[in-house]
Amino acid sequence: MYSNTEWTNNEASRTKLWLSQQGYIDDPFVKNFCQNPMKRAPEINRGYFARVYSITHSVKRFCLKDGANCQIVNIGSGFDTLFWRLIKNSDIQFNRYVDIDTNEVIDYKIRTILKNEELLQFCGKVEKSSPSQFISERYNAIALDATKAMQLVRQLLQECRINKTDPIIFIFECVLLYWPEESTTNLIYTLNKTFTNCNFVIFDLVNTKDKFSDLMQQSLVEQQTPLLGANSFRTIDDWQTKLSKMKCSHVHAWIMNDVYYKLIQQNERERIEKIEFFDEIELMLQLFNHYCLVMASNYSNFDW
Ligand SMILES: C[S@@+](CC[C@H](N)C(=O)[O-])C[C@H]1O[C@@H](n2cnc3c(N)ncnc32)[C@H](O)[C@@H]1O
Repeated sequence: MYSNTEWTNNEASRTKLWLSQQGYIDDPFVKNFCQNPMKRAPEINRGYFARVYSITHSVKRFCLKDGANCQIVNIGSGFDTLFWRLIKNSDIQFNRYVDIDTNEVIDYKIRTILKNEELLQFCGKVEKSSPSQFISERYNAIALDATKAMQLVRQLLQECRINKTDPIIFIFECVLLYWPEESTTNLIYTLNKTFTNCNFVIFDLVNTKDKFSDLMQQSLVEQQTPLLGANSFRTIDDWQTKLSKMKCSHVHAWIMNDVYYKLIQQNERERIEKIEFFDEIELMLQLFNHYCLVMASNYSNFDW
């Protein structure tokens, strides 16, 4: 039985499983965490492709730029497999990796890792394992309500041996939209104050004040998953100005249309566009106009 936001992880993982089976994304690990692929409409598949591509690409660029000491923390990670996808890639180096999610999600993730030789072997020596905590040489998973900023910081520093001064990136992939604005502001501000070289990559909602967005929000209210963050960052300018106020000195925010047509490599875009026949480009542009990618840092510019 899933709680209100946990089912959103179920849906995301099942969609990512389908995308990996169709060749949209290269994720040989997702099948270990969920077995029931979800086929979505082509515009949604392209949106998910752009979401996975842009988060993965941003984290890889961060690792390449900041080197072997860098640290990665995925907040509301769900069953995402980024740790295994990165570690399999010999060009990418990083020091610590932490997944954070709720009890139920983390418990299932840990049980799956412990049962699977391939997943386990990439984690290195296991130091601690319980339903709410997995600490190993290279990979950590912690069950925690991430809106509790001080508790999160304490666990990262004490249990996961995250270093305050080494470069760190926090991933928020479709998570902040479920939080009230105060929780987001408090967490980002606290992380920026605690970590000297702190970066954020965020995939979230934008342009939330139109009919399309109202309909989307209404259907989620009906599924008991209200988008509490929808009114916080209504425009791309809101993302820019509000993150700057949370002590991010470098902020870049892109509407997904720009991510898709300007940031993603043309050959990758052309490759995935051959996977499914689709000619309702207007519909896709309308959908993409409601999502954004935000990169922010308290010390340096991102290099896409
Ligand atoms: C839409 S899913 C996204 C999962 C993953 N980031 C992805 O994109 O595949 C949202 C995830 O955020 C988690 N989440 C929401 N609020 C949270 C909180 N306060 N603390 C920890 N995890 C949270 C949910 O349990 C769920 O796994």
